[in-house]
Amino acid sequence: MMERTLSIIKPDAVGKGVIGQIITRFEEAGLNILGMKMVHLSKTQAKEFYAEHEGRSYFDGLTEFMTIGPSVVMVLGGEDVIKKSRALMGATNSPEAADGTIRREFGTDGRRNAVHGSDSPETAVREISYFFDASELVGGT
Ligand code: TYD
Ligand code: MG
Repeated sequence: MMERTLSIIKPDAVGKGVIGQIITRFEEAGLNILGMKMVHLSKTQAKEFYAEHEGRSYFDGLTEFMTIGPSVVMVLGGEDVIKKSRALMGATNSPEAADGTIRREFGTDGRRNAVHGSDSPETAVREISYFFDASELVGGT
């Protein structure tokens, strides 16, 4: 099934200077970049974006971390792109992520884990529309 997903290169990875290496992982796996921008999230934006996690013990730390510097937000497209991008990312907790995954290679721990990826088609629609208008995407109008 052709899908879209919202992918974020988080502030820790941007700070490390590995934007290009992460994008290359996605492109070499055949995922297509349909939109991309660099954004420095405000605390309000971080809380809105991660609203479904409100009330969790890690919510404050997560939303604070997302504001420490700019992120790269991207829309990736392709066959089964949601599952494929999450497989390339690896497990949430970077040290536990499988060898060869983005989080294992570029992440540090369960918070500073280098990348975000939507977890379902419904979430992807909401997350993409949070950052992009249709006219900003390849194939948009
Ligand atoms: P989650 O949606 O569970 O993970 P994923 O990013 O793999 O979909 O959590 C969202 C983010 O919240 C996660 O990338 C990092 C942060 N987080 C923590 O800081 N501590 C935690 O214990 C968990 C579960 C998440
Ligand atoms: Mg998630």
